[in-house]
Amino acid sequence: MPIQTTANIWHNGKLIPWDKAQIHVMSHVIHYGSSVFEGIRCYTQPSGAGVFRLQEHMQRLIDSAKIYRMPLPYTVEQLSAAVIDVIEANGIAPCYIRPIAFRGYGEIGVNPLKSPIDVYIANFPWGKYVPGNEGADVCISSWSRLAPNTMPSLAKAGANYMNSQLIRMEAEVNGYSEGIALDVNGYLSEGSGENLFLVRNGVLYTTPLANSVLNGITRSSVITLARQLGIEVVEQTLPRELLYISDEAFFTGTAAEVTHLRSVDRILVGDGSMGPITSALHEEFFGIVNGLKADRYNWLTPVNVKVAEPVGV
Ligand SMILES: Cc1ncc(COP(=O)(O)O)c(C=O)c1O
Repeated sequence: MPIQTTANIWHNGKLIPWDKAQIHVMSHVIHYGSSVFEGIRCYTQPSGAGVFRLQEHMQRLIDSAKIYRMPLPYTVEQLSAAVIDVIEANGIAPCYIRPIAFRGYGEIGVNPLKSPIDVYIANFPWGKYVPGNEGADVCISSWSRLAPNTMPSLAKAGANYMNSQLIRMEAEVNGYSEGIALDVNGYLSEGSGENLFLVRNGVLYTTPLANSVLNGITRSSVITLARQLGIEVVEQTLPRELLYISDEAFFTGTAAEVTHLRSVDRILVGDGSMGPITSALHEEFFGIVNGLKADRYNWLTPVNVKVAEPVGV
């Protein structure tokens, strides 16, 4: 999808024009993939606009950076305020927000420790991520997810997305909306940019953090909502074939939100339609983010945007 430009991008504490947010080709990140980033959504509600779980996303950015010995010179509060500033300056809601921290220009060689750390935050309109209005048709990827003790899955690092690109390209080239990767031991892991849930006999299952998944913020939100609805939630290692015989399955993610899976490897999941547990969670999730249900967990941080419509190019 082409990027829709905006007026401003936040850079190391200041708003700068979109076209000035540029880096040198010899920056460390270009050569060695040394970046960590976030993806966040801001939704509109009847009473205004709000960013979903902003502090949790900024904490994960700081955690990702810490894993890579990249100390960010900003706190969760400062980064959260910066996100609000850039949204308000651009006047765009709903929108997707992309904070990124990386090793910049200065040194050559793999060791990043002497290269400067740059932080940018952009926002732009972005709609549906996983194609398929009647549910997504997905496949099991021939690519495995990151092996333990190679690329840390809990860090949302740019370099991890080379693996995600292989999964997503293969899926799309073969006519699927998305791919699900197994971990190196052959157990279910996650989609190229989404966590995975399935339902069997009324129990909601998802893969645990040790199966090479990102600690998804939508994942944790859905677990909270499910428990409140009285649904049993089990986080455990899951065999691939459980997906084929599941009653329901869905992805969660900031970009994917809650997307039901119609089929896996052309095998229908249940009868292919969105099942009752997925529907209940879908309704709760969108009810809260769209302001139709009370924000009972304080997941939304208000933002003051006068134009409640995308104003990108
Ligand atoms: C690999 C991967 N897994 C899972 C997710 C879902 O995480 P979240 O719900 O925090 O967006 C994402 C998206 O950030 C992702 O890239």
